[in-house]
Amino acid sequence: MTTKALTPTTELTGTTQQAMTNRPRRLRRSEAIRELVRETIVRPEDLIYPLFIVPNTRPRVEIGSMPGVFQMRAREAAEESRKAFDAGIRAVLLFGLPEYKDAIGSASWDPAGPVQSAIEAIRRAVPEMTIIADVCLCEYTDHGHCGVVVDRNGVKDVDNDETLPLLMKQALSFAAAGADFVAPSDMMDGRIGAVRRALDARSLSDVGIIAYSAKFASGFYGPFREAAESTPQFGDRRTYQMDPANTREAMREIDLDVAEGADIIMVKPALSYLDVIRGARERVGLPVAAYNVSGEYSMIKAAAERGWIDGNRVMNEVLTSIKRAGADLIITYFAMEFATQRSRV
Ligand code: PBG
Repeated sequence: MTTKALTPTTELTGTTQQAMTNRPRRLRRSEAIRELVRETIVRPEDLIYPLFIVPNTRPRVEIGSMPGVFQMRAREAAEESRKAFDAGIRAVLLFGLPEYKDAIGSASWDPAGPVQSAIEAIRRAVPEMTIIADVCLCEYTDHGHCGVVVDRNGVKDVDNDETLPLLMKQALSFAAAGADFVAPSDMMDGRIGAVRRALDARSLSDVGIIAYSAKFASGFYGPFREAAESTPQFGDRRTYQMDPANTREAMREIDLDVAEGADIIMVKPALSYLDVIRGARERVGLPVAAYNVSGEYSMIKAAAERGWIDGNRVMNEVLTSIKRAGADLIITYFAMEFATQRSRV
């Protein structure tokens, strides 16, 4: 088979060159130039590292659906926090798996509970680390819901106002153990104000609140529920977590949390909600956090394991996109991997 080479006529080439004053590719010619003009750079200091804490009676185990993520004991959390701080990470977010569960999640305010013990152990091992404790009942209740379940004429639902005092108790317990921030993730109405008042009444006004303001009822939480053993035993979370279709409502939730005294607001999940992150960034003066959730992590890990994508490259692209959308802080299971990697793309 013979092909005839197509050579542009000098006449045509000349015309093209004259018209091309702007050549964006000049700014992409070398890695040095690309680094020079890069607009968004993720730093380890932007990341918050989630840790799952089990009682000392349980072993450290890797979570099946989240390769590289472990359930760990307080002592191990302190060791991991030391490594994280040395790699540039400035904050950890703690989730607890209690010794026992009941209808109201009372294990969550046990002063010897896994989160309280981990706060104390991390504080001793890494005094400079920012310690954030997630406040929610779902890991501690036998029904797996984020609040008190009531039966109204045969219909089960989570009661908002009965849940608030329990969240306050839990937040106070974490704060008393030494948490720098509490992060309510339950999505009850009025909980930021309630937790703020509870802290202030106990002279814990230095303890801040990171509000899971726009938390959507998402399928991307699947692997987390294995990690935290918090799958609802009936129904779902749609009467308290937000409908994924709603942006205006997300802005309203954010406004309410700002008015109630949140120090940092959060959008969760991150990747399917980049527009919400951008909306939040443009709307409030507070720092905006985004939660790169378990499903977002596991999808990348699973595809990378199969060789379908370059996991490191996609991790960097995803974290960059979340920051580019407007997040100041990113909660991510990639925190350690990102902070300790050699090359940043
Ligand atoms: C609730 C909570 C959840 C997550 C963080 N806090 C799960 C849920 O709402 O069901 C999800 C985080 C993730 O998927 O990584 N306490």
